[in-house]
Amino acid sequence: MAGVSSVPFAPSRSPLTTKLEGFGTTIFGEMTSLALDTGAINLGQGFPDTDGPAAVLEAARAAIASGANQYPPGRGVPELRAAVAEHQRRWYGLAVDPDAEVLVTAGATEAIAATVLALCSPGDEVVVLEPYYDSYAATIALGGAVRRPVTLRWPDFALDAASLEAAFSDRTRLLLLNNPHNPTGRVLTADELATVARIARERDVVVVTDEVYEHLTFDGRVHVPLATLPGMAERTVTISSAGKTFSVTGWKIGWLHARADLVDAITTVKQFLTYVNGGPFQPAVAAGLALPDAVFRQAATDLQERRDLLVSGLSAAGMDVVVPEGTYFVVADAAPLGVTDATSFCLRLPELAGVVAVPMAAFYDDATPARSLVRFACCKRPEVIAEASHRLATLKTHQ
Ligand SMILES: Cc1ncc(COP(=O)(O)O)c(C=O)c1O
Repeated sequence: MAGVSSVPFAPSRSPLTTKLEGFGTTIFGEMTSLALDTGAINLGQGFPDTDGPAAVLEAARAAIASGANQYPPGRGVPELRAAVAEHQRRWYGLAVDPDAEVLVTAGATEAIAATVLALCSPGDEVVVLEPYYDSYAATIALGGAVRRPVTLRWPDFALDAASLEAAFSDRTRLLLLNNPHNPTGRVLTADELATVARIARERDVVVVTDEVYEHLTFDGRVHVPLATLPGMAERTVTISSAGKTFSVTGWKIGWLHARADLVDAITTVKQFLTYVNGGPFQPAVAAGLALPDAVFRQAATDLQERRDLLVSGLSAAGMDVVVPEGTYFVVADAAPLGVTDATSFCLRLPELAGVVAVPMAAFYDDATPARSLVRFACCKRPEVIAEASHRLATLKTHQ
C-alpha cells in the first residue's frame, strides 16, 4: 500500500476560481432537485413537459439513421445556417448572409458566453437588464468584465430611459438585452426598443440581444428584433435557439447572427468552448425553422392558454399576478400571503403546497425590489397547471 495516504484530503480553500466566487449551483438546478426529492410539481425550471412538432423529432431520428453523427462544420451545418438566414428574412425582413454572418452554437447559453468572452476585455462594463437570466452574470464574471444592472421594477417592469442612460460609462462595451424577457414576461414596446437603439448608437456600443422566446408572445403581440431598427443591424448580435420554439430544450442548438467581423471574433472563442455540438440535431432544427407559420403561432396560442390557467390559479391562491406578455414565466407577488422573503418561502413551498417555484431574488444583484416575488413556469400540461393551482389554493388556509 506504499504511497497511499490515510490522511483525509482537506483542501485549504475552495477549488473554484475566484472569478465565480458566490455563484455556486444555479437556482434552477437546486429547485429541480428539490422537486425530485419531494415529488412536488416543478414550476421552477422552464422546460416543457410535452414534445414539440413531430416533424422536427422525426428529422433528428432520420439524421441519426443517415449517419450525421460526426463533427459538423465549425460554424454549423450549411442547411441550418441557411435556415436561420431564411427564418430572419421570412419573419422579420432581415438580410443575413448564412456563410459570413451566422454561427450555430451549443444553445443560446454558449452564444451568449462566446459573445461576451470574445467582445469584452477585463475591466470592460456590460449593461444588463435586471432581473437577468442567471448565465449572464456568470459569463460576465468569467470574462473579467463588470456588470451594470438596470432594474425593471414590479409591477410593470418598464425600461426606464434615464436609468438605462445612467448605467453607461466610458468603459461600457456591451449592452446585453433579453426580449421577450425572462423572468418578467415583458415584451419591450416600440418606444423602449427605440430608446435602446438610440442609446446604443449614441454610445457606440454593440447590443447582444437574447431572443430565445421570439415565437412565444401573447395576445397578438409581435416580436420585433432589435436588429430591424435603423442603424442597428450592424451593431447587434442577435441570439436565439431551438429549445423554446420547438420544445427541445435538451438539444441545445442555438445560433447567432451579426456583422461578419463580429461573428469571426465570436467564432474564435466558440471553437475553444465546444468547437461544435449536436450533429444530427442541426439538420432537424433546420427542418423546424422551415415549418409553416401556423406551427409557430399554434405553439404561442397553446402556451397562452396555459399562461391564463396559471394566472388564474395564482390569483385564486391569493397572490398578486402580472399577466406576462410572452415567455414561459409568470411572476407573482406572495406578499398578500404574508410572505416577506420569497427565497425561504420557495424552499418551504414543496412542503406547504407540493409545488416548486423560483424566488425572483435569484435574478437580481440587489434583490430589495423583489423580496416577495416568485417566478412560476407555465410551460406545463394544462392538467399539471390545474393540479398545481389546486394545491396552491391551500396556501390561503395556512396563513
Ligand atoms: C433568457 C434565456 N436565455 C437563454 C436561455 C438558454 O437557452 P439554451 O437552452 O438554448 O442555451 C434561457 C433558458 O431558459 C433563457 O430563458
